[in-house]
Amino acid sequence: MRIAIASDHAGFALKEEIKKYLAGRSIEVTDLGTDSEESVDYPIFGRKCGEEVASGKADRGIVCCGTGIGISIAANKVKGIRCGLCTSVSMAEMTRRHNDANMLALGGRTTEVPLALDIVKAWLDTEFEGGKHKRRTDMLDEM
Ligand code: RB5
Repeated sequence: MRIAIASDHAGFALKEEIKKYLAGRSIEVTDLGTDSEESVDYPIFGRKCGEEVASGKADRGIVCCGTGIGISIAANKVKGIRCGLCTSVSMAEMTRRHNDANMLALGGRTTEVPLALDIVKAWLDTEFEGGKHKRRTDMLDEM
């Protein structure tokens, strides 16, 4: 599995922690920036990561900004992207089981690193249930 990852300045530190976690699981990562805590605009990075996933260059994507809100909005504007902003492990499980989320958004200023890594683990390891949920994700993808 290849994961694309991106953040703005407020999500940069968390992005770096997530990269270490993914490396520890031997997951291939494409880092689309940003590269420091110098202020940048989150829509650029949310879109870039969304396009990497939608084009098939990456299997899934993870994006981080201060709250995870702005960068998830940006990612969800890319057709084919279902990006779930998660603040708990149960949300991460549900966004995979019911929404087949191909992207995960996290807040670097709102979620502590250990919890964020638990969320990433749950999001990676939980399967989509399909069935009636597939009908609904198909409806999302048609929008
Ligand atoms: C940046 O200050 C902040 O607005 C951004 O990281 C994010 O939280 C937006 O939703």
